[in-house]
Amino acid sequence: MAQEPDDRVICVIGAGYVGLVTAAGLAELGREVRVVEIDPERRAAVSAGLTPIYEPGLDVMLEAVVASGRLRAVEAMDEGVTGAGIVIVAVGTPPTRDGEADLTQVREAVDEAVRHAAPGTVIAIKSTVPPGTTRALQRGSSRDDLAFVMFPEFLREGSALEDLRRPSRVVVGGEDAAAVSRVAALLGGPDTTRLLCDSVSAELIKYGSNAFLATKISFINEMAQLCELTGADIEEVSDGMGLDPRIGRSFLSAGLGWGGSCFPKDVRALETSAGYHGQSFWLLKAAIEVNTQQRRRFTAKLVHGLGGSLEGRRVAILGLAFKPFTDDMRQAPAVEVVRQLEDLGAEIVATDPVAIDRARPLLPRTSLVADPYEALTGADAVGIVTDWPEYRDLDWGRALGLMKGRLVVDGRNYLDGEVIAGHGGIYLSMGRRPRGPGAPLPGAAAEAGSRAVPSVPLG
Ligand SMILES: NC(=O)c1ccc[n+]([C@@H]2O[C@H](COP(=O)([O-])OP(=O)(O)OC[C@H]3O[C@@H](n4cnc5c(N)ncnc54)[C@H](O)[C@@H]3O)[C@@H](O)[C@H]2O)c1
Repeated sequence: MAQEPDDRVICVIGAGYVGLVTAAGLAELGREVRVVEIDPERRAAVSAGLTPIYEPGLDVMLEAVVASGRLRAVEAMDEGVTGAGIVIVAVGTPPTRDGEADLTQVREAVDEAVRHAAPGTVIAIKSTVPPGTTRALQRGSSRDDLAFVMFPEFLREGSALEDLRRPSRVVVGGEDAAAVSRVAALLGGPDTTRLLCDSVSAELIKYGSNAFLATKISFINEMAQLCELTGADIEEVSDGMGLDPRIGRSFLSAGLGWGGSCFPKDVRALETSAGYHGQSFWLLKAAIEVNTQQRRRFTAKLVHGLGGSLEGRRVAILGLAFKPFTDDMRQAPAVEVVRQLEDLGAEIVATDPVAIDRARPLLPRTSLVADPYEALTGADAVGIVTDWPEYRDLDWGRALGLMKGRLVVDGRNYLDGEVIAGHGGIYLSMGRRPRGPGAPLPGAAAEAGSRAVPSVPLG
């Protein structure tokens, strides 16, 4: 006889970036949380109160909730689900070759969970899934005594705990109003905006949010290219545009483009989903293309800055993770640019404060070192790929002194170009004015950076 479901007990399926942060956060708020995880290493780490992923503050939080007994990692689904009022599904939805969201993990997790769930349990889908998935899962479950809701996640890796404690909004979509309210009560405080809707709208709120932000980045990257062609400076343009409250300054920073575990797969999945319904989502196709070109523009700046060839040249790469404060290497721009540079004959020495272990299997030809000064020693040029504060705060006089060449290509528009130029470096970026002795004149920078993009295979 199944135990009565109780909302004080929560089961989270999947101890990844989303599942683990959600589980630890709910346990901190006083719920009894069981995390079902199939990966034995991840499970063992969580059981020992150790986080298997890097996320600032998660180690301290997890240690406390595991020690208090409020969070437990389990292997068996029945142990996780039995007695839980709400089952949160936070497994991966990686892209298929065709760009669709692969729902295999979600289907397997849901199939197993519904076998053990008592009547009245709510199955909350936190994985990012295409429109219509939550309804299809409910219909396919052959259980009309369970409620299915879509409970999209908006956390940002690197500041996930802050986002969990003070969410920008809590969105829950479903056809059973009582189930939607139960899930909406899980997170956020009295001031949190809660948007309750149908499950398809909730699915599209998640995809639409990521696709919109990615498109905003691609737009400003196109503007950065035009700044190079006309002699304007993208920082001034972004600041000026961002002062309009209807536009806002966030996600108007030009650079290497978007990457990570969500934007690339979600933009493609939304575009593919639209295609499935007979719609060509042209804007997203363009945003994807601009993003691909942006990596090549960065590579081209290094090629041209080093006189047209990378053969036998040594290039230091600072930063590998797709953004600072995470070790996540999924769809990190670093992987594409390092492979392009290597294919063009460069020897790459790369560094990152936390992502080296995850980068190693992806970059087998690359020397990976922990110390940025070691990476810079003897380099003909350096490329900034992740905007980690420690790279801005390097002693750039020392860094340039260790290098063989003087070229600094800032793929994140993050360093102070005047500081680099003050130490005799040549500073190129993604749409800022070039700085330093021998730097190309405005307009000419465009030629070096944007037109003659080498055609290299993207791995
Ligand atoms: N990472 C983010 O910043 C983020 C933000 C918002 C939404 N999302 C979405 O959340 C979902 C999860 O993302 P993630 O980054 O946490 O993924 P992840 O790959 O880091 O974690 C998924 C975890 O689920 C486990 N798992 C898979 N199948 C299982 C099963 N049947 N039983 C138990 N455990 C199982 C895996 O072993 C893995 O540990 C995805 O749909 C993603 O798009 C991610």
